[in-house]
Amino acid sequence: MCKLTESRLIFLLLISMVATVCKAAPDKYSIGSSATAEQISGWDIDVRPDGTGLPHGAGSVEDGELIYEEKCASCHGSFGEGMDRWPILAGGEDTLTDDRPEKTVGSYWPFVSTLWDYIHRAMPFLQPQSLVDNEVYALTAYILYLNDLVEDDFTLSRENFTTVKLPNEMAFVDDPRPDVENQRCMQNCRDPESIKITWDSTDLGVTPTEHLQPEAVEDNAVLAAGSPDSGEQTYRTACSVCHDAGAAGAPVAGDKSAWTARLEKGIDVLIEHAINGYQGELGYMPAKGGNPNLEDQQVQEAVDYMIKLVN
Ligand code: HEC
Ligand code: HEC
Repeated sequence: MCKLTESRLIFLLLISMVATVCKAAPDKYSIGSSATAEQISGWDIDVRPDGTGLPHGAGSVEDGELIYEEKCASCHGSFGEGMDRWPILAGGEDTLTDDRPEKTVGSYWPFVSTLWDYIHRAMPFLQPQSLVDNEVYALTAYILYLNDLVEDDFTLSRENFTTVKLPNEMAFVDDPRPDVENQRCMQNCRDPESIKITWDSTDLGVTPTEHLQPEAVEDNAVLAAGSPDSGEQTYRTACSVCHDAGAAGAPVAGDKSAWTARLEKGIDVLIEHAINGYQGELGYMPAKGGNPNLEDQQVQEAVDYMIKLVN
């Protein structure tokens, strides 16, 4: 706790230093105005584990259930089980050491203040900060109840807030590593142009990239691999974005000079590059043009189609 108070002090000190500097050079930019106390209080909404920052108020599990059903259950499920792929809020006890731990308020989170603050700050997802304080208390109480941490007649208030402990609190420890600072490079620095990005997270295939070609997903379904013209169709939906006009360094389909040297590598190599991705001199060819849903055969047919255009 001592740490938190200390950092808050330093924060306030910094603010007053900035204020002093601004006073010293009042007309430097001639824009903006000083933040009012009201504006600052709109940002200063964090709640600490010891209850610092909590407004007066209270809310019961019972009230929380009604609000939760109306405003939260459509995404998080009536029991916090999570609809579709929306986050799970309850359960998951003793799973933290599993291969796929289920991290919930009950199984993982350290403090009730994290829950209060999160709901108050960010939920419901589409109307953040629309809840009044007593609703946040009630929803916090209800989610604690869904995690079997309080009884159904419990009322959470500012006064009893710190009496509720989350089971995993003790697993959170202070980070003993010292802060590190790097010097800013002022001379003989590396040329940023020389830094080549050789890999990014889309290569893992876990980041959806279909949205880059919105038509592709529907159209892929139209023609299955092997049907007449499916090579052209796949090309149109998944490859033409780049290969029609040569975007991002892509060799223009049908442009002989752009393809002669490539064809010498052999068609199998080109197909392999199109399926698995390829970093060349001119740019990056994403695996399957960024459409992991395409079958290998569809990509192969698209390459065949592109080669036909050159001949
Ligand atoms: C439209 C869907 C939607 C609704 C409605 C919604 N949430 Fe969420 N909720 C989300 C999403 C998405 C996240 C994850 C946000 C993120 O990770 O950036 C989330 C995260 C949370 C989390 C943190 C979960 C975790 O383990 O990280 C809590 C707690 C939560 N919501 C509570 C609520 C409460 C209480 C309500 C009702 C007042 C509510 N949510 C309504 C979509 C929704
Ligand atoms: C986001 C842009 C983009 C999309 C979409 C794209 N490509 Fe490419 N492709 C490239 C770029 C850039 C290169 C050139 C890489 C280089 O040689 O520097 C390339 C090169 C190729 C090559 C030549 C590879 C080699 O070894 O020289 C083939 C074949 C190819 N693409 C096929 C396809 C097919 C088939 C699709 C659709 C399924 C597709 N591309 C979609 C950007 C794209």
